[in-house]
Formats: sequence, structure tokens, C-alpha cells
Amino acid sequence: MTFDRTIRIAPSILSADFAAFGAECEAIEAQGADWVHVDVMDGHFVPNLTFGPAMVKAIRPHVKTVMDVHLMIAPADPYLQAFAEAGADILTVHAEAGPHLHRSLQAVRGLGCKAGVALNPATPADAIDYVLDDIDLICVMTVNPGFGGQSFIASQVAKVRRLRAMVGDRPVHIEIDGGVTPETAPRVVAAGADVLVAGSGVFKGGSVANPGVYGDNIRAIRRAAEAARSA
Ligand code: DX5
Ligand code: ZN
Repeated sequence: MTFDRTIRIAPSILSADFAAFGAECEAIEAQGADWVHVDVMDGHFVPNLTFGPAMVKAIRPHVKTVMDVHLMIAPADPYLQAFAEAGADILTVHAEAGPHLHRSLQAVRGLGCKAGVALNPATPADAIDYVLDDIDLICVMTVNPGFGGQSFIASQVAKVRRLRAMVGDRPVHIEIDGGVTPETAPRVVAAGADVLVAGSGVFKGGSVANPGVYGDNIRAIRRAAEAARSA
């Protein structure tokens, strides 16, 4: 992975057909996805369950771009090695998931993955003031984690702006997760975001049998986001 601030669209397979993850990953990549976002939920840190490292490992051969694994689990530390071995390129842990965030981030990098930290909507930007040199990505939750298809929480735009200033010249991506649409994307990009996760916004209306819709949805988000850059 090379670093730059080109807009990247990362469809979340939380909104894909769970019986066809391999084909779904291939379809979104063929339709222009830059990364594939994989949501791991434990029914404890968040009120929903998805899947574990075995499923991530099964998906891996179908992802040619970047596998962006978002761990909504607590504790995360006991499972980091398994997700790294499953083939995650980026492993993101939540700042709220345990008392030793710095240790978790060190462990992720030690396992050879890029380290991400996710912030729930109520968590202030300052929570990661002292780990900015230990991360490769900040995931700003613009919904409460757990489910796809929720509405964008507008108060997070100011947080994105603040994080962008805190990051400065560091090679740290600012990723937005939740409620991303062609309407909300320009607002977060103008504030400094460069990676846009979109679940329902990409998968709605399409399918493996009808993947052109995924492409239309990805292009609509990208176009709106890039317009905000050049504005
Ligand atoms: C929410 C997940 C998101 C989710 C986004 O807990 O982390 O990645 O899939 O879904 P949308 O884009 O539908 O809000
Ligand atoms: Zn996510």
C-alpha cells in the first residue's frame, strides 16, 4: 500500500449477500472499489454479530485491492493475530474497546498490518492525541457502529476537521464510516476525509447478477467527493 490522499471508496460487505462474499468482493472491485471494508462484530461491543477470522480468511483470495478490517469487538487484543493471519491489510481497533489502545496499535503493526483506530460518535478527537505516530488510519464513525443503513450524524464533520488538523503531514488516512451517500460525502471530504466506507450506499439496488448498479453507486459517491476537493 502506498500513501496519498486520493479519494478512496471502500464498500462495506456488511450490505452484501452473506452467502456470496467471494463473488460480491470480485463484483465491487470490478466496478471500481478501491478497498474492501470488512465489518467484524461481536454482539458485545456492538449489538450485532457478523463473523470471525475464518470468514475473513475465506474472503481474502477474492480481494485484490486492500482488505480493510474493522474490528467492532472487545477485547480486541486476543484476536489480532488471527485476523492478521487471515490476511487483513489494515486492522482497525476501536479506541473504546480496551484500556490499552497504544498496546493494541503496537501489536497490530508488530503483526505486519497497517494500524487503524476507530472513534465512536461520542469519543473526542483528543482521545488519540498521543497515538498519532502509531497509526496509519483514523476511522471516524458517522453512525453508531453495529448496523448498516443508518443516518449520518452531522456533528462528526467538525471532528473530521479537527482530526485533519491534528494529523498534519503524517501519512494517516482519515476514513468515514456510516451513512455515506453522494449528499454526505462532500461534507466530510471538504473537512479532510480521504477514505469513504459505504455499505448501503454502494450495494443498494445491485447484485452479483446486476453489478453495474454497484459501479453507478460508486461513481456517484466518488464524483460528489471529488467535486468537494476541487471546490
Ligand atoms: C457500521 C459499519 C459500517 C456499515 C456502514 O457499524 O461499521 O461499515 O457497514 O453501512 P452504511 O454505509 O449503510 O451506513
Ligand atoms: Zn465499518
